[in-house]
Amino acid sequence: MRTMPETGSSFSLGDRYQPVMARIQALLSEPCDWTAAMATVACELHHAFDHFHWTGFYRTVRPGHLQIGPYQGTHGCLDIPFERGVCGAAARSKQTQLVPDVNRFPGHIACSSTTRSEIVVPVLNSDGHVIAVLDVDSNDVDAFDEEDRISLEWLCDLLGTRWGSEAWDALST
Ligand code: SME
Repeated sequence: MRTMPETGSSFSLGDRYQPVMARIQALLSEPCDWTAAMATVACELHHAFDHFHWTGFYRTVRPGHLQIGPYQGTHGCLDIPFERGVCGAAARSKQTQLVPDVNRFPGHIACSSTTRSEIVVPVLNSDGHVIAVLDVDSNDVDAFDEEDRISLEWLCDLLGTRWGSEAWDALST
């Protein structure tokens, strides 16, 4: 059983995610800053699953505005306002966006014409501010399910708890 750092609620990580989450936790037990953590998570997730074709972070760089952070895959769009796309919807609503078919999501930003489905999970600090979103895109339709959502939300909760203040303070100064 795992516990959500913020809410204290318990859940089980599915079998698919156990090894990669164990690796990520071991790697992040080293002293590291927010950028190093995002780069490590993007790399480990991307190489853990064949259907993760773009895996990375967009960071809040000023109120209502995301900019690309560490990622793996082909180049991504550089700037995304909170009003736009799946990433913007996740940042605006502070809720995970699980999109089985991007062609059916009005306003989806097509950084890559091959993307067919995606999941975007917000990373919040302890005050509930969005410091980043984790974006995973797949070239397969309907590539993500509840196990992805629960596992990636757990990971983003952990990231927000540990690096939320550092990321927010860097933004405010
Ligand atoms: N698909 C995202 C944009 C980011 S990239 O695809 C890497 C969106 O609609 O927000």
